Amino acid sequence: MSETRNAALDNTATMDSSGGTEQATNGLQRLYKPSSEVVENANVTAYMRQKGFSTYEELYDWSIKNPQEFWSDQANELGWYEPWQQVLDDSQAPFYKWFVGAKTNIVHNAIDRHVTTWRRNKLALIWEGEDGTQRTYSYHTLNREVSRFANVLKSMGVKKGDIVTIYLPRIPELPITMLACAKIGAAHSVVYGGFSVEALADRVDDANSKVLVTADGGVMRSKVVELKKIADEAMARTPSIQTCIVVKHTGHEVTMESGRDLWMHDLLSLPIASAVCPTEPVDAEDTLFILYTSGTTGRPKGVVHTHGGYQVGTYATLKFVFDIKEEDRWWCAADPGWITGHSYIVYSPFLTGATSFMYEGAPNYPYPDRWWSLIARHGISILYTAPTAIRGLMRFGEAWPSRHDLSTLRLLGTVGEPINPEAWRWYYRIIGGERCPIMDTWWQTETGHFMITPTPITPLKPGSATRPFLGIEVDVVHEDGSSCAANEDGLLVVRQPWPGMMRTILNDPERYVTTYWDKEPAGMYTVGDSARKDDDGYLWIIGRLDDVIKVSGYRLGTAEVESALVSHSAVAEAASIGLPHEVKGNVIHSFVILREGFEGSPQLEEELKGHVGHEMGPIARPEKISFVPSLPKTRSGKIMRRVLKAQALGQDVGDVSTLES
Ligand code: WT7
Repeated sequence: MSETRNAALDNTATMDSSGGTEQATNGLQRLYKPSSEVVENANVTAYMRQKGFSTYEELYDWSIKNPQEFWSDQANELGWYEPWQQVLDDSQAPFYKWFVGAKTNIVHNAIDRHVTTWRRNKLALIWEGEDGTQRTYSYHTLNREVSRFANVLKSMGVKKGDIVTIYLPRIPELPITMLACAKIGAAHSVVYGGFSVEALADRVDDANSKVLVTADGGVMRSKVVELKKIADEAMARTPSIQTCIVVKHTGHEVTMESGRDLWMHDLLSLPIASAVCPTEPVDAEDTLFILYTSGTTGRPKGVVHTHGGYQVGTYATLKFVFDIKEEDRWWCAADPGWITGHSYIVYSPFLTGATSFMYEGAPNYPYPDRWWSLIARHGISILYTAPTAIRGLMRFGEAWPSRHDLSTLRLLGTVGEPINPEAWRWYYRIIGGERCPIMDTWWQTETGHFMITPTPITPLKPGSATRPFLGIEVDVVHEDGSSCAANEDGLLVVRQPWPGMMRTILNDPERYVTTYWDKEPAGMYTVGDSARKDDDGYLWIIGRLDDVIKVSGYRLGTAEVESALVSHSAVAEAASIGLPHEVKGNVIHSFVILREGFEGSPQLEEELKGHVGHEMGPIARPEKISFVPSLPKTRSGKIMRRVLKAQALGQDVGDVSTLES
C-alpha cells in the first residue's frame, strides 16, 4: 500500500518554526495548540463540562461507549413532531435505522422553528453573484420563498416518493428548491452544475425523475455555462422528465419546449404559489435526498440519506466542529451540488440558525483577491474550503490577501483531500493570521457528516484530520480486521453505525452491502481509503484504494471517464489513472486503444478531451491522453491501472504475476 503514499503527507517532513503556538512533539512533529480563549468559549467545552468531564479524551471515550446517549442528547436539541421509540435499530444491519418511530421534517428544524423566534429577522442566507449582485434572505423571507415554491411543486403533483432532479448554478434558488422538496416530503437529487449531458441523463434516469429544475445558465469567469442547453440534450436521452422548471438567471436566450418547459418566475406569480405551506411530517427514516457519487463501476451510486439521522449528525458536527455562534457569518465555499454543500451550505447552517454566505463565481475573478475581498466585505468569521482552492490561491502570492482586512475570521476549515503541510501553514499564517484553528474534516458523501475532525480545542498537526468525532469509532485495520500498529498503513474502517450514515444505494441495496459492508474485513463499514494512525492516535489519510480519482477535490470514477471515452467512435478501449498535480491534487491521464482505421494525433487527443468534457463535464476532462497499442490486463481481462500508474510515475511496477502474457 505504500505505493499510494502521498509524499506531501509524510509527517516526518521538516516543519518551519514560525508561529508561537507550535510545540515540538515526537522530535519532529509540531503541534498547534488553540489559545485558552478559543478553548474557553468553544461549544464543545460547554458540552464537556455539562457532561461532567474535564478533558476532551474523557468525553470522547464516554461518547463511543454510550453513542446512543450522545446522539440522543443532540437529537433532543431539535424539534420532533413525535418522539422516537428507539434511538438505533440494528436488527437488519447493515440497514440501520435511527430515531425509529419519530415523526419529523428537516425543514421544521431548519426554518419553521426559527420563524417563531427573534431569528425570523436574522439573515439566513447572503448571496453574491460573480458580477457583484447581492441578495439576502432573512429566515422569514427564506421561509416565504421555500413555501411558495413548495406550493408550486405540490400543485404539479410532486409528493413523497418522488425524486426531483435539480441542476442549478450556485444561486439561492438551489437551496430554496432543495428545501421546498424536503418540506413537502419529496426527495431531491442535485446534479452538480459542472456535470454535463451524459452524467445528467444517467442520474435523471436512475432516479426516474418527472420534474427537473434548472436555469437558463450559470456564470463562471463572466462566461455563460449553458445549463438549459445541456439539460435539453440530457432530456432527449431520457424519457422520464415531464416538466422542466427554468430559473431565469443569465437572461440569455434559451429554447423552451412548450408543454414541458416552464419559467420559475411565471409559476411563482400564480395564485397557487402562496407563501403559506404546511411542512409535511415525515418518518425519521423517510428519504431526504439522493446524491450520486462515483465508485468502481461506470454506474454512479445513488446514495440515500434520510431526514432524522442526517439532521442530527449535520447539526451536531457543525455546532461542535465549527463552533457556530449567533454572531457568526459562515462560509462554506463548496458547491451545493456535492455533499459538502448539501450538509454544510444548505442543511446544517440553517439547522443551527446560522447566517450562511454563498458566492456564485470563480475564486480569482476578476482578480485573485475576490475571496479575500468577500471575507472583508461580508465580515466572514468562518471559512470552509478545499485544499485545492487554497493551493490555487496561494500561487498568486501573499500580496492579494494582505490587501484585505481578514480579522473577522476566527476559524478555518478544509475538506475533500489531504492537505499538504505547506498549504496548511500558508492558510494558517496568511489567511488565519495565526489565530484561527484549522478544522481538517474527513468524511464522505456516504457518511453525511464529519467523521474524523478536530474541534476548536484539539491540538493540530498540519496534514492530519486528527481524531474521530464524538460518537464515531474509526480504526485502521489489516485485511483480517485486526488493528494496525501505530504508523502502519492500513484500511480505514468505521466500527459503529452513526446517524447521518447512508441508508442504501437507490435501486441497488445489494451494491450497498457488497461495496461497504461485505468486503474484507467484514462487519465494519469499509471506507475505501487507506490511512495510518500515529503514536498520538492522530489519523493521516493516505488516499483512495479504489478506482476513484480526486481532481480538485471532486470525486470522479475512472470507469465513468472511460465509458465517456469509449462512447466516441474512434475509441476501442480506454483506461484512466490519476497522477499527482501541484494545485489540483490529481489530474486524469487516459490511455486509449483506437479502433481500426483511426490514428493518434494531437487533433484527435483534443477532440477526445472535448468529448469527455461534453459528456461528463469539464472537471472530468483528461489532462493527457496517450494512444497505446495495448493495456496491461490480468488474465481475467481486468485492466491493471496500478501498473499504468507505476509506469507513468517511473516506479517499479511491482507484482505483475497476474498480468496477461
Ligand atoms: C473522499 C470522499 C466529504 C466531503 C467532500 C468529499 C477524501 C475527504 C478528506 C480529508 C483527506 C479526504 C477521502 C474520502 N477526503 N475529506 N479531510 N483528508 N481525504 O466527499 O466526494 O464523497 O469523497 O474524499 O478519500 O474517501 P466525497
